[in-house]
Amino acid sequence: MKPNAMILGIETSCDETAAAVLRADGAILAEAVFSQLKEHAAFGGVVPEIAARAHVQHLPGLVAGVMAKAGIGYAALDAVAATAGPGLIGGLIVGASFAKGVALAHGLPFIAINHLEAHALTVRLPGLVPSGAPAFPYLLLLLSGGHCQCVLVEGLGRYRRLGSTLDDAVGEAFDKAAKLLGLPWPGGPHLERLAGSGDPAAVHLPQPLLGRAGCDFSFSGLKTAVARAVAQGQARREDIAASFQAAVAAVLADRAAHALAMAPGVTALVVAGGVAANGAVRLALEGVATARGLPMLAPPLRLCTDNAVMVAWAGLERLRSGVSDSLAFNPRPRWPLTELVPLAEAGA
Ligand code: KG4
Ligand code: ZN
Repeated sequence: MKPNAMILGIETSCDETAAAVLRADGAILAEAVFSQLKEHAAFGGVVPEIAARAHVQHLPGLVAGVMAKAGIGYAALDAVAATAGPGLIGGLIVGASFAKGVALAHGLPFIAINHLEAHALTVRLPGLVPSGAPAFPYLLLLLSGGHCQCVLVEGLGRYRRLGSTLDDAVGEAFDKAAKLLGLPWPGGPHLERLAGSGDPAAVHLPQPLLGRAGCDFSFSGLKTAVARAVAQGQARREDIAASFQAAVAAVLADRAAHALAMAPGVTALVVAGGVAANGAVRLALEGVATARGLPMLAPPLRLCTDNAVMVAWAGLERLRSGVSDSLAFNPRPRWPLTELVPLAEAGA
């Protein structure tokens, strides 16, 4: 791969339409994200058919925009990468088909990206974290609205899932608790703001699976307890919010500590996903990492949530290993990380 290879990345797996142009040295030449918040807010969650239509509507303009900002034509690209799963099938088809069309028209390799791998590799983007890219293996805690899992990242294409949620994803739990507290969707950031003026010790809430072996998660019992506290009407809303947030942070810290014990020799605890934005969660996880002498690394917030820079970077990592995909590759709504094929790394 040329040291200055350039790639177009496309993300359409959920409710963010995103495109980015990246150079192999890590330079982000252009990036754009269109968040479909307004489209879905009235429904209190992502509506798959509306999401797919919004991707169709916004992706072409977004791609034209990043290409113009990068100041290059399609002929200057070395590859096109798009998220091909896991996610909502309508959106995946829109993004992957668009990328295949560009690849076909300009004779470029097409790279089908696993969305979870893209989250897992983001911290390796040169210059992203001040201490430098962590070496393999590292532990990834993926904390988003759709995913909640502990993954041992052993190398490119080499992932071991150590634990995952038995019911709701952690972002989903934040959103449901926020809804019970009468906050708008998506509720995570609103709940954090409300919790800021509350007492985290005021309401007794369960801490599901705390201390239990392994590093699976469970949040549905906590949500039920929040519903009960709201219905009883005795506690202040801000106290319920603060107590909920504290319970989640305690559970995540406990699970992360267990995961680290299951993965000796890791170089870092890496956190990604929208919930990584939460101050109480970050603080708790930082404590766990520090206690083991490890750094806690998180991409900057805009690259923690769904974006196309991470897709483009995963594409470059794959391109560097000599990998591309057939235009016949069908998007996969379910695509566990553990089904990826281990790849040799070419270069650092
Ligand atoms: O990674 P993300 O942007 O999208 C996917 O789910 O793929 O994560 C969004 C989730 C939402 O559930 C949102 O409420 C939650 O992350 N979130 C937060 C905060 N910011 C976003 N949860 C708690 N505190 C926050 N500050
Ligand atoms: Zn995601």
